[in-house]
Amino acid sequence: MSACPVHDGDVQAARWRKQWLLEEGVAYLNHGSVGLSPRPVLDAWTGWIRRIDRQRLGFIRREANAALGEAYLRLGSFLGTSADRLAFTTSTTMAMLSVARSFPLEPGDEVLINDHEYWSVIEIWQRACNEAGAKLVVASIPVPVNDQDTLADTVFAGASERTKLVIFSHVTYRTSMVMPAEVICRRAHEAGIAVLVDGAHALVQCPVDIDSLECDFYVASCHKWLCAPAGTGFLWVHPRMQTVMKPLTGARRGTWRDAAFTGTEDHSRYLAVPAAIDFIESAGLDDFRRRSHELARYARERITRLTGIEPWYEDSSQWYASMAACELPLLDERALQDALWKDFTIEAYINRWNGRSLVRVSCHLYTQAAEIDRLVDALVKSGIGRPRA
Ligand SMILES: Cc1ncc(COP(=O)(O)O)c(C=O)c1O
Repeated sequence: MSACPVHDGDVQAARWRKQWLLEEGVAYLNHGSVGLSPRPVLDAWTGWIRRIDRQRLGFIRREANAALGEAYLRLGSFLGTSADRLAFTTSTTMAMLSVARSFPLEPGDEVLINDHEYWSVIEIWQRACNEAGAKLVVASIPVPVNDQDTLADTVFAGASERTKLVIFSHVTYRTSMVMPAEVICRRAHEAGIAVLVDGAHALVQCPVDIDSLECDFYVASCHKWLCAPAGTGFLWVHPRMQTVMKPLTGARRGTWRDAAFTGTEDHSRYLAVPAAIDFIESAGLDDFRRRSHELARYARERITRLTGIEPWYEDSSQWYASMAACELPLLDERALQDALWKDFTIEAYINRWNGRSLVRVSCHLYTQAAEIDRLVDALVKSGIGRPRA
């Protein structure tokens, strides 16, 4: 493969890579599953660990609230919202659980979700519905889909007058689709349905301005694309819904944030979130999005040429951002993912969605086009497709 303009960015990516502890020779194309923190974030985090451990009790009693308040302010301004709507959680999963434990469901009510949602999210809501005597309706969003209005329509295809809540991902995890979040939230409001957005993948990949979405709940993880330490999720609740929030543990201390309280916390991770925001902003969010999309597009183009299988949606940043998901011939996903690591030191997410195999390529600041070339070569050596001229 001769070098093309997308390779020109590899020199800069190699410089960025030095900010991470990534091992030499590893092509880490799965930042979407598990993010990695760069050195300045690790430094900030370990700095907080040391500061807290000088006197852990004293910190919790006398300093934590003010320090966390600053972190909430910084996260809030990054996300277009105010600090008092945010509560740190260890993950998107825990934030989702808090909402599922609190959202008022009556027998006969319906919760609407779709078949692109994260597996544990579907399980959490299945259980919440079972316990309340409500019904979880899983709408099917077929692919290919090339029209955003059609996409929004299919999200609501299973809605009825009993639907109380609609749940969707801002960016879907297996199929890597950017969902028309504003349109879906607006339609939910018009229909009098509350809306919960799963933003696990959206932070950094897409501009996220939560207040303007006018959703009821937004949950996400800072440890993915934002590169904060592992264990940094958050729950955002609109003031109109804060009164419905119940403490996850049953232990009440007095604010809606009890909904996310799980006992003694490691505050150091949350306090390093502002450093992660500083880091990503130092790279320039527009530059990040332009370059990571250019790489995702390159991956999509090369893999499509290899397999001959048409992509599932349009080639546009309106449809996908920093991750490319491409269908592969049906195969043993686990075996291929393991072989990519063992034989080629490549981390990529090979998965199955609705009976179809997919490879998902995540592109971050440190990603080089040459690593995508390595992935394509590895796919060829693993028996997939034939490279076309
Ligand atoms: C869309 C989506 N929601 C939720 C999660 C769970 O995130 P966490 O492991 O941070 O709880 C993931 C993880 O990949 C995800 O992709």
